[in-house]
Amino acid sequence: MSHHPELAAPKVTVPYLQDLKARDQKIVMITAYNYPTARLADEAGVDLILVGDSLANTALGYDNTLPVTFEEMLIATQSVRRGTRRAMIVADLPFGTFQLNDEEAIRAAIRFVKEGGAEAVKIEGGRNRFALVRQLVENGIPVMGHIGLTPQSVLQMGGYKVQGKSLSAARRLLDDALSLETAGAFALVLEVIPTTLGRLVSEKITIPTIGIGAGVHTDGQVMVMSDMLGLNFGKSAKFVRQYADVKTVISEAVKQYAEDVRNQAYPATQESYEVPAATAEQIEKAIGVDENEIPYVIYAD
Ligand code: KIV
Repeated sequence: MSHHPELAAPKVTVPYLQDLKARDQKIVMITAYNYPTARLADEAGVDLILVGDSLANTALGYDNTLPVTFEEMLIATQSVRRGTRRAMIVADLPFGTFQLNDEEAIRAAIRFVKEGGAEAVKIEGGRNRFALVRQLVENGIPVMGHIGLTPQSVLQMGGYKVQGKSLSAARRLLDDALSLETAGAFALVLEVIPTTLGRLVSEKITIPTIGIGAGVHTDGQVMVMSDMLGLNFGKSAKFVRQYADVKTVISEAVKQYAEDVRNQAYPATQESYEVPAATAEQIEKAIGVDENEIPYVIYAD
């Protein structure tokens, strides 16, 4: 039997996502950074798996997304690829791979596709990324844009704040969305903007919008998996809904294991290996400790 029962559903592609928007069907995206979580997400039937640069702060212990390297992201993408069959895999271009020049960015995107098995890349930024997005798309690499709160700009923003709150900021954000659509992006992440703006942008562009803290009207939603599993250590953002308490599950399990080891309650006989009694006796006789023999030299001070 297949381990991927949802394969009865069609493989997710760019036209498939476009079709979901046209039919008013919500798109489900979640982050994953390794084989088991990608496999579970894929088997649960999500449409998109994002190998987000949130890998940095959620799994690698960095303070924010800025330090994560392309190589770290590539390894995560490869692991996700091995666990995924139906969902479309999007890899985040990390900070530093697309700021210097477009050539470097295109090289990184090609490596994500060729070596990582990604099917699209995500890039933070608006109209300032128009030329890059256009070149990637012309070279056959689907691009997901990301506007609103862009965590790679945390130093400039001075924290993680709601974006697009004034009329001028809302206009700029809509212009960014239209520009990315014109450049050929196949979808846009809208992060932490007012619900009204999430709805307006989703109505005004023809490509799907995927919201995170952008209200209920976007064409889909994305969540960082560790946030929804309760596997994070800081204060959660307002938009996070916690669906499980995996932190407590892990903590309790590890505490119980430590107690069992210390009490010799683990391993039990059925968790151990043995040879037939006669062989055991033979081994014991041949190599068991002879009480008259000092098995190793004890060095005196
Ligand atoms: O890196 C990430 O997880 C993201 C999502 C928050 C959209 O970019």
